[in-house]
Amino acid sequence: VEKNGNPAVIWLHFQECTGCSESLLRSSHPTISTLILDMISLDYHETLMVGAGHQAEQALHDSMKANHGKYILVVEGAIPTKQNGIFCKVSGRTALESLQHAAEGAAAIIAIGTCASYGGIQSVSPNPTGAVGVKDIIKDKPIINIPGCPPNPYNFLSTVLYYLTFKKLPELDQLGRPKFAYGRRIHEHCERRPHFDAGRFAKAYGDPTHAQGYCLYKLGCKGPATYANCSVQRFNDVGAWPVSIGHPCIGCTEPDILFKTAIAEKV
Ligand code: SF4
Ligand code: SF4
Ligand code: F3S
Repeated sequence: VEKNGNPAVIWLHFQECTGCSESLLRSSHPTISTLILDMISLDYHETLMVGAGHQAEQALHDSMKANHGKYILVVEGAIPTKQNGIFCKVSGRTALESLQHAAEGAAAIIAIGTCASYGGIQSVSPNPTGAVGVKDIIKDKPIINIPGCPPNPYNFLSTVLYYLTFKKLPELDQLGRPKFAYGRRIHEHCERRPHFDAGRFAKAYGDPTHAQGYCLYKLGCKGPATYANCSVQRFNDVGAWPVSIGHPCIGCTEPDILFKTAIAEKV
């Protein structure tokens, strides 16, 4: 329930790997403890909360009631829709039912990760559970997508801090992503870009062209069509990102065409 005037946040987990939460736990400015103890009131989060069972359910319903119309709902994971959504249940309710119920009293919804934004890995063909993203189910609430698998935690934190500071949502692109983080293609700021422009491409993993840091385009890099700030913001405060450590971008911040194709190519 709202504490010290801090806005209530309810976080639901559906079909996912918890990588988005795990990534957020490793952020350092602010740390997750500063965020949840000083800036927001995280009233329900299945991975982080101490309570379990009926106690946890009570916290969820108390918060939804006390903060009706005001809380921020964060969704991590896709929502299965086939067979009335029986593939994902928490406390006897399907993800579909829980989302619809929690969305009703939310001021805004943040879909964290590619699963919650577009269905993600769970929705790759043949998508046996009918997994979809939040925006495919909820049509009457502001929804901010923070895609990535996992997304950069600072894209999530910046969105939350923007909302807390300015009391409004940041400007979004046509896919519901904050433009400050997803407004440019990673190709535009990639350190391998001079090799791309000069036509120097890595031919195989581990060979001299790869070891010399040549462009990964011919190994399948989707950077030229992927909108994200990975090449600028980087990850884990150590300056690394997929392309810097030698792996092509698989377009994990993009919906079907890029990301799902890249995943399908690998399985
Ligand atoms: Fe895991 Fe990726 Fe889904 Fe996040 S978006 S929960 S990292 S599968
Ligand atoms: Fe572009 Fe990928 Fe080459 Fe970087 S490695 S320059 S993102 S194609
Ligand atoms: Fe994802 Fe590509 Fe960034 S795979 S993490 S969008 S470099």
